[in-house]
Amino acid sequence: MKHLLSTADLSRAEAIDLLDVAEEMSRATAREVKKLPVLRGLTVVNLFFEDSTRTRISFEAAAKRLSADVINFAAKGSSVSKGESLQDTAQTLSAMGADGVVIRHAGSGAPHRLASAGWIDAPVVNAGDGTHEHPTQALLDAFTLRRVLNGKPASGAATGTEGAGLDGARVAIVGDVLHSRVARSNVHLLTTLGARVVLIAPPTLLPVGVGSWDCEVAYDFDEALAEHDFDAVMMLRVQAERMHAAFFPTEREYARRWGMTDARAAALGPECAIMHPGPMNRGFEISAAAADSPRAVVLDQVANGVSVRMAVLYRLLTAQTAAGSGTEGEA
Ligand code: NCD
Repeated sequence: MKHLLSTADLSRAEAIDLLDVAEEMSRATAREVKKLPVLRGLTVVNLFFEDSTRTRISFEAAAKRLSADVINFAAKGSSVSKGESLQDTAQTLSAMGADGVVIRHAGSGAPHRLASAGWIDAPVVNAGDGTHEHPTQALLDAFTLRRVLNGKPASGAATGTEGAGLDGARVAIVGDVLHSRVARSNVHLLTTLGARVVLIAPPTLLPVGVGSWDCEVAYDFDEALAEHDFDAVMMLRVQAERMHAAFFPTEREYARRWGMTDARAAALGPECAIMHPGPMNRGFEISAAAADSPRAVVLDQVANGVSVRMAVLYRLLTAQTAAGSGTEGEA
């Protein structure tokens, strides 16, 4: 694995390896001295062409905990706003000696372009490209789910899930699937790990061709909840900034039919977790009480994001620098 661009590229063994390394990282993070020296001397560039709070901070924390130097590059205030191309930006970073590039971009496919165009030699991590993919989000979701399924604390330094997939887990992904890179990456990864996924959305918010995805599709949230005994229900943010048409009648109607309301949250099975990648629109796709309930693992997801991104950076950057030197980092 040279880059992490899509969860569709991950084999089951590679995905489980990353989750297992993330478990190691979570144990290191729980120690008094959180820093590990493994990426000392290497430089990770965070290239964020699109707004982000938790993903950018999470990658920064992950790189710093591995002792890498971090350069944060936000498109606002840079020469990108003067019209500099992705190519010129990449070549500039390469000349400055980036050992790994984390990129978020509004254009679907931008990270693939960066990885394949030959402008830069470093491993590329996709931190969200348009409506396409967000592989580290799916990995942190899978990591959190694996903890929940095995009855472990959803975050913190737990042990004992290593080697396991998500076999037999039933996961609902609900809402704006059409614009969601989180949904796309999760459908690939969760099914690779053995889970069964049901997408629940209004027909207007499902992508063309969803019938060929490896999952079920349902339109009625209450019927789907009655029919399946879900282990987790993942709510998606309604991506208003990507909507250029009316996809549902009103916010109120959306919340009533596809939102995680107080009543739906109360009716879930006792073990069922509520997930959300953040940022949440409280009162819209998820009620405040559901978001704050003990079954919500939203903050665990955020905490686990750091461990998972440490695992990804570790595997990609050490595979590159230590090629042939006997480290086990060849995932
Ligand atoms: C997601 C994203 O940016 O795709 N957020 C995140 O990375 N935590 C989901 C979203 O914005 O809805």
